[in-house]
Amino acid sequence: MTELTLTVNDEQQTIDVDPSKPLVDVLRDDLGLTGTKKGCSTGVCGACTVRIDDEPRKACMHIAGMVDGKSIETIETLSDGDDLHPVQEAFLEEFSLQCGFCTPGFIMSAVALLEENPDPTDEEIETALHGNTCRCTGYDMIFEGVKRAANEMNNESAAQPADD
Ligand code: FES
Ligand code: FES
Repeated sequence: MTELTLTVNDEQQTIDVDPSKPLVDVLRDDLGLTGTKKGCSTGVCGACTVRIDDEPRKACMHIAGMVDGKSIETIETLSDGDDLHPVQEAFLEEFSLQCGFCTPGFIMSAVALLEENPDPTDEEIETALHGNTCRCTGYDMIFEGVKRAANEMNNESAAQPADD
């Protein structure tokens, strides 16, 4: 066991863990953050996507020792009770889910995309979510959810009063 210090959803955590334990298991088993899902465990499905130092990353492909000192964000950080992130709202409105199990990973990738590129093209959305699209095919409603979130976030920021 090794003592590691991580910032998880803006809170510093010091944990004693096997440094070879996959991050997805650390989040779920040691920190109780079960919103991050474990699907394939081999980096294929994207269900375990979290953000590591702001970048969307697959938590099954990072071991605990690799994330010592890093900042991790999970799906739990996006909402405050019933107050959802605009991407979560848009996914609900567009019914942007298929199996549902992989949805948190899609949302984490979509949030990272829209922070970096608030007005993505269809192709940019597909590229950004490439790590989340597995063998299930379809995904149109998921892409529609991302487009709706982009529109709503852009409308919201246009409605904000400009800084002096
Ligand atoms: S569980 Fe990590 S990519 Fe599938
Ligand atoms: S794993 Fe959820 S739709 Fe493919």
